[in-house]
Amino acid sequence: MPDLSGKVAIVTGCASGIGAATVRRLVADGARVLGTDLDPVRGQALCGETGALFVQQDVADRARWPQIVATAVEAFGRLDILVNNAGMVSHAGIGDLDDEAMFAAWDTVLAVNLTGTMAGCRAAIAAMRENPGGAKGAIVNIASTTAIAPLPTDVGYSASKAGVRILSKSVATWCAKAGLAIRCNTVIPGATHTGILDAAEVTMPGLMAAVARTSPLNRLADPAETAAAIAFLASDECPFMTGAEMLVDGAAMSIHPGF
Ligand SMILES: NC(=O)c1ccc[n+]([C@@H]2O[C@H](COP(=O)([O-])OP(=O)(O)OC[C@H]3O[C@@H](n4cnc5c(N)ncnc54)[C@H](O)[C@@H]3O)[C@@H](O)[C@H]2O)c1
Repeated sequence: MPDLSGKVAIVTGCASGIGAATVRRLVADGARVLGTDLDPVRGQALCGETGALFVQQDVADRARWPQIVATAVEAFGRLDILVNNAGMVSHAGIGDLDDEAMFAAWDTVLAVNLTGTMAGCRAAIAAMRENPGGAKGAIVNIASTTAIAPLPTDVGYSASKAGVRILSKSVATWCAKAGLAIRCNTVIPGATHTGILDAAEVTMPGLMAAVARTSPLNRLADPAETAAAIAFLASDECPFMTGAEMLVDGAAMSIHPGF
């Protein structure tokens, strides 16, 4: 288990799924955690249960990011870890909607998944540079296997997650070139049993079983498995890992689609 004692973390999208599992995992590993989510009821409940602090946040509201980071620093004295986990889908392929609806869906999903992640990185780096004892930190951004093999049914989601992969590498190399001990890595989950899939199953019955079959393990990931990878990248276990990507996909991206 990575040792996160003494570390302070922010986890976005903490109310559900991978975010909730990550709060549980980071707290269990010894970190003090600020969880944020759009949903104040479930976010507060999860944080209350784990001993984390909760603040409501829309990650797409970029003006709010410096306040979120300041809240963590005021409460805990520093910021070591940011997990940019909050995300949404848009369920729209390139020709599925009229112009007005298509661009609205695109703008929303890009604002949350990509701009929200960039704004989080920017605000976190500003705080991590000022950490007592010197600049240090670890950012973990959450992409998706749809950033490798996109969904024809969701152009905005797939493109936003592809953007997250390159964003992470740019952030990682900027920090390295600036001589800052601030790392940035990406976790790429495959099909994971969370609220996103539960909601999609309602409109697309059978989806969950179909995506489970994309892994040769023939099952969905448990969010705790994804959280384990996040905790490793958030820890000091491997300081040379930055700009890296960790697949947690049950080998779904490692097998020829014909098999
Ligand atoms: N579940 C999967 O199969 C899967 C696969 C690949 C990647 N992911 C990614 O993992 C991350 C977590 O997803 P999940 O599966 O746990 O989904 P989830 O729906 O269970 O949880 C997402 C959480 O993010 C919150 N959220 C949504 N928009 C927000 C916003 N604008 N500001 C703040 N919070 C917001 C939601 O309220 C929710 O609590 C997402 O980035 C998602 O794209 C999930």
